[in-house]
Amino acid sequence: MMAFDYESLIASIPDYPEPGVVFKDITPLLADPEGFNALVNDLADRFSDKGVTKVVGAEARGFMVGAPVAFKLGAGFVPARKPGKLPREVRSQEYALEYGTNSLEMHVDALVPGDKVLLIDDLAATGGTAIAQVKLVEAAGAEVVGMGFLLELAFLDPRGVISQATDAEIHSLV
Ligand code: PRP
Ligand code: ADE
Repeated sequence: MMAFDYESLIASIPDYPEPGVVFKDITPLLADPEGFNALVNDLADRFSDKGVTKVVGAEARGFMVGAPVAFKLGAGFVPARKPGKLPREVRSQEYALEYGTNSLEMHVDALVPGDKVLLIDDLAATGGTAIAQVKLVEAAGAEVVGMGFLLELAFLDPRGVISQATDAEIHSLV
């Protein structure tokens, strides 16, 4: 089967949210029934042999892609949220973004030792968000078995950065 043309449904917005950043807007892809279906199926299929028990996705775009991938894999979904959003006890991890810094939080009981975790996000830029999630997963005693992205901004070398934190397989569609 021919690979889906993801790039035709990803908009590039120069100087958003700040000068010098080219923002990749995936909302046209999410709104396209065929595109959304291909995105979820392509990411899930790639990791279908890894025994994934939980998919972790970071707020907000990691939810949009990660939750349907979890559903397709028959796995659970665990949100990594921006500070102050989760109501029970959390672990927190700070990280640097292409624009600014933030932290992500995960409920302390969301993962258990033995969980095989797939991290899913729309995009890897600096890799900071992914590494923060790896740390949260490992702090829970669980294992990252793979990482899937729609897009990798290769010029920022997120793959190089992430490989220093984990040897889990990284797969990007674009
Ligand atoms: C974006 C994107 C990734 C992250 C990638 O999320 O969805 O999660 O940045 O950047 P990094 O590789 O440099 O860490 P953002 O924090 O902008 O939040 P949003 O999903 O709520 O828009
Ligand atoms: N997150 C970090 N960098 C980004 C970019 N250039 N476009 C969209 N989301 C991002």
